Amino acid sequence: MAASLLSPLLLAFFTLTVITVVTVSTDVDLILNRIKPSIVGQSPNLLLNTWNTSVPLCQWRGLKWIYTNGSPLACTDMSSPQWSNLTLFKDPSLHLHSLQLPSANLSGTLPPELAELSFLHSLYLSVNSLSGSIPFELGYSSSLSDIDLGDNLLSGLVPASIWNLCDRLISIRVHKNMLSGFIPEPALPNASCSNLLYFDFGQNEFSGHFPEFLTGFKALREVDLSGNHLSGEIPSELVGLNLDKLNLSYNNFTGVLPGSKFGVESFEGNANLKTRADEEDDEFEDNGEVDENGEGKLMLFEGGEHLTLEDVLNATGQVMEKTSYGTIYKAKLADGGTIALRLLREGSCKDVGFCFPVIKQLGRIRHESLIPLRAFYQGKRGEKLLIYDYLKNKTLHELLHEPQPGKPVLNWARRHKIALAIAKGLAHLHSSIETPITHGNVRSRNVLVDDFFVARLTDFGLYKLMVPAVADEIIAAAKSDGYKAPELQKMKNCNSRTDVYAFGILLLEILLGKKPGKTGSRDGFVDLPAVVKVAVLEETTMEVFDLDIVKGIRSPMEDGVVQALKLAMGCCAPVASVRPTMEEVVKQLEESRPRNRSALYSPAETRSGMDTPF
Ligand SMILES: *[C@@H]1O[C@H](CO)[C@@H](O)[C@H](O)[C@H]1NC(C)=O
Ligand SMILES: *[C@@H]1O[C@H](CO)[C@@H](O)[C@H](O)[C@H]1NC(C)=O
Ligand SMILES: *[C@@H]1O[C@H](CO)[C@@H](O)[C@H](O)[C@H]1NC(C)=O
Ligand SMILES: *[C@@H]1O[C@H](CO)[C@@H](O)[C@H](O)[C@H]1NC(C)=O
Ligand SMILES: *[C@@H]1O[C@H](CO)[C@@H](O)[C@H](O)[C@H]1NC(C)=O
Ligand SMILES: *[C@@H]1O[C@H](CO)[C@@H](O)[C@H](O)[C@H]1NC(C)=O
Ligand SMILES: *[C@@H]1O[C@H](CO)[C@@H](O)[C@H](O)[C@H]1NC(C)=O
Ligand SMILES: *[C@@H]1O[C@H](CO)[C@@H](O)[C@H](O)[C@H]1NC(C)=O
Ligand SMILES: *[C@@H]1O[C@H](CO)[C@@H](O)[C@H](O)[C@H]1NC(C)=O
Repeated sequence: MAASLLSPLLLAFFTLTVITVVTVSTDVDLILNRIKPSIVGQSPNLLLNTWNTSVPLCQWRGLKWIYTNGSPLACTDMSSPQWSNLTLFKDPSLHLHSLQLPSANLSGTLPPELAELSFLHSLYLSVNSLSGSIPFELGYSSSLSDIDLGDNLLSGLVPASIWNLCDRLISIRVHKNMLSGFIPEPALPNASCSNLLYFDFGQNEFSGHFPEFLTGFKALREVDLSGNHLSGEIPSELVGLNLDKLNLSYNNFTGVLPGSKFGVESFEGNANLKTRADEEDDEFEDNGEVDENGEGKLMLFEGGEHLTLEDVLNATGQVMEKTSYGTIYKAKLADGGTIALRLLREGSCKDVGFCFPVIKQLGRIRHESLIPLRAFYQGKRGEKLLIYDYLKNKTLHELLHEPQPGKPVLNWARRHKIALAIAKGLAHLHSSIETPITHGNVRSRNVLVDDFFVARLTDFGLYKLMVPAVADEIIAAAKSDGYKAPELQKMKNCNSRTDVYAFGILLLEILLGKKPGKTGSRDGFVDLPAVVKVAVLEETTMEVFDLDIVKGIRSPMEDGVVQALKLAMGCCAPVASVRPTMEEVVKQLEESRPRNRSALYSPAETRSGMDTPF
């Protein structure tokens, strides 16, 4: 019964389909049978009603056509010869070039068949009520370059396939929808989408970090990411783009804004973002008033107020250390004081608008375990000097690894004191300051220890002042010296967990008294975590500790040495997420203090005070 009723209908359907396929252009077929039914939604639509074979093709609203040979179909007005041609729709050499129906009361969904319009260049369907998701097939269209789906009800993820269009894409706008998830990344790491001018993903529900790949799209003129849930820092490379319009407002961005020509309107509504405008007011002007007599600029911080430009310029220096990113000088002031000057390598510091906020941030950091930055000088040729207290004592590296007669014995109480101070300094950087900062270069050479075994970290946050290529040299050095977290490939990705890893290695270095380093290329360098693992397996754990530790304690278990070893191994766990935070490290080290603290305060070893010039 049912079959006999259906059969004639089915037959009619097939007949109709066959007829349309052979008698109209493929695009007309798609438009009538796939696209129109999908976007028309429930109600009839006056504009879409014109898409009808009883209406001349030129009068179908919102469509522009092109011939296979690339010449456009001229339908400009009623005087054009095509205007009333009722058979034009059958011409197989005609293809849809653009579909433009803004504010057309469209509802329904975007059909995947849009991708089959092989000449479709522009798709403008903004200000409608289209819902559902963006079909992934759209990324497979062969000519699509200009997309505006703004102000609709689209939801779900933006398909990553959209970046298949990268090379020809001129504009992509999905402003004001309900799209969510991460903004997809191009599959090719170095994609530059060199024709893309407009990128508008504003007013959606996107989450995750700033889409860094945008900084490689050098042609961009307008970027709008406003009104989403994006978080984390805004990459400084953004200033390398030549943008006319930028809107990052109403997100959850943090950190300090890279300097740019854009004002607060571009960044408002990010509660934890320090804009350059915040910083600019007091950049130099409120720092003891400015020396700017064509000689350069001096920015003074707490404890450095008495320094003058002349002091700095007249200081006589001697080189203490050279690193990939700068040279450290010990400099005598005219008044007899001493300062440490770090001259940043040429080209190290990025543009001034980015540099100054970071320097101001570093200049505010004060903690007993961190060597304070007292002043900053920028010369008229752009040379940059960071001015610190000069501490004449030794690096932890020297104390641990460079034998010298009369060197104080580093018993467990002293090593514990040093480790705890370093941990507190790092915890302060990671969580106790307004804008947390990653140290980025934790290593025993960057810990200075005075005669009272007070340890202080230096070099914190300096990677932020470097161009990526120079910053990445820190990684290369950390790798050969064993402090590099396995997941860390680019300095811009360093974070508190990579600091924790480096601290774990440093703690092993303190406990074992051996230099870390994986390559084995230099004598005496060892993979400290591997050494500990082997010792644990072979049940010789007690033999890995430095002899000076073991000699001075009653029991490695009761004095917290074994606990410290476990903690260190936890810090250098290969998987970043299982590493403890520095706050947890501080807590655990405080809970497992050595019992005999009198070893720490033995007067014989506390000879002279620290020389602080300020
Ligand atoms: C096309 O237009 C004709 C004449 O106005 C109308 O009868 C027909 O129903 C329309 N076809 C469709 C599919 O809308
Ligand atoms: C209408 O268009 C068709 C296909 O391009 C063409 O073959 C035909 O000559 C045109 N008719 C008129 C009257 O212009
Ligand atoms: C727009 O669509 C709604 C239903 O979706 C309909 O009620 C309304 O009449 C339409 N307006 C116009 C101008 O076509
Ligand atoms: C991407 O660029 C980097 C440096 O700019 C280069 O080293 C790398 O080989 C490039 N990768 C690809 C897949 O082109
Ligand atoms: C940025 O977008 C917000 C809405 O998200 C808007 O209020 C603000 O005016 C825009 N700013 C600029 C500079 O376009
Ligand atoms: C911003 O981040 C905070 C904490 O990370 C979170 O509680 C808040 O919901 C976020 N706000 C938005 C608008 O995403
Ligand atoms: C600094 O050096 C210049 C020239 O070398 C000298 O004239 C000046 O007196 C010096 N200033 C101080 C404070 O020593
Ligand atoms: C600190 O410096 C003084 C003088 O330079 C030196 O005698 C002393 O050994 C140093 N202390 C340490 C712990 O290296
Ligand atoms: C504690 O250390 C001091 C100095 O190293 C040592 O003289 C003393 O015997 C130690 N006391 C105990 C109970 O181990």
